[in-house]
Amino acid sequence: FLIGHALGIETSCDDTAVGIVTSSRVILSDCIHLQSHLHEPKGGIVPTLAMVSHRKSLPTVIRDAVEKARVDVLRDVDIIAVTRGPGLGPCLGVGVDAAKSLACVLRKPIIGVHHMEAHALTPRLLNPLLSFPYLTLLISGGHTLILLTRRVNTHTILSTTIDDSIGEAFDKVTRLLNLPWLPGRSGGPGATLERYASLGDASKYNFPIPMTKDKSQLQNSNMSFSGLKTAVKYLIEEEKLDVEDEEVRRDLAAAFQYAAVEHLIGKLRLCIKECCKGELDVRKLVCSGGVARNGFIRERLNKLAMEYDLELFFPPPELCTDNGVMIAWAGIERYQCGLIDDYFFEQIPKWPI
Ligand code: KG4
Ligand code: ZN
Repeated sequence: FLIGHALGIETSCDDTAVGIVTSSRVILSDCIHLQSHLHEPKGGIVPTLAMVSHRKSLPTVIRDAVEKARVDVLRDVDIIAVTRGPGLGPCLGVGVDAAKSLACVLRKPIIGVHHMEAHALTPRLLNPLLSFPYLTLLISGGHTLILLTRRVNTHTILSTTIDDSIGEAFDKVTRLLNLPWLPGRSGGPGATLERYASLGDASKYNFPIPMTKDKSQLQNSNMSFSGLKTAVKYLIEEEKLDVEDEEVRRDLAAAFQYAAVEHLIGKLRLCIKECCKGELDVRKLVCSGGVARNGFIRERLNKLAMEYDLELFFPPPELCTDNGVMIAWAGIERYQCGLIDDYFFEQIPKWPI
């Protein structure tokens, strides 16, 4: 199952992305058409707008990725990989239909990729020394998961959020503070909040760390972010805080980010204590997904990894947020395990990992 090049297509949410990668870990192209300008005025991602935009852009993004990589699709591309789920159904459908047509006509194998699995495998593209098993902290707009990754497609959930994802909480607080989204690929609402937080004083406001009320909550490995978001909302209303005031915005952002990250680190600590001992003795920690771009989280994780003597792996920021490269790489990993699909498969919007 040794192969050369994979073309990966990602349309699960609001970015139309295509990447071409070799099995010897060379990224040949990484093309994205962003849609944030469509969704920002609406205050969040609108699925139908996203789907129409994918349909419009995907053909040219595929063409750009092929041209940039300087490959002959017929001769050089060995597999077509595409995000099969989880994600927005109609958006996934655009990518899956395009990938099936391409693969079928070109007579190439097609691989349906699990989006979160692709996030978890991305650090292996960048570092050949990252072998299984490892702990994976997946923090994105759609998910917040702590996994024990044993193999390419074997991920045991150790912890998950019982309500909002951490990315959703960042996005909602950005909206409460009436902040603009950062434009471009480094952007998104969470990135704006991080920038404000980095200039603020977290001690000005005191938000309770989620799930620390009593012993049973402290020992429960699951996460919860919706109460924290509501606490920010209530504080603004009760104290009649002026969210147009830059200092108020910065301090609120810093206090929220501190509480959210303390919560994340607390639950990760429980999972580390469970897995990084005895027979299993996991010694590696991976952090991936859009929120893994966050510098404050990276700093805290570095300290935690040192404390437990774990090796820490992050993808570079541009490969943390959704991209086609991670789908191409996950396709290669799946293909090498013999996991190949047929030309009739459908998207799976709710696909458990
Ligand atoms: O992985 P991703 O691109 O899409 C999903 O699969 O959900 O993650 C997007 C999420 C958004 O919620 C975005 O606001 C957040 O990642 N994000 C950040 C930062 N950059 C992006 N959150 C916190 N700090 C950042 N610097
Ligand atoms: Zn993602």
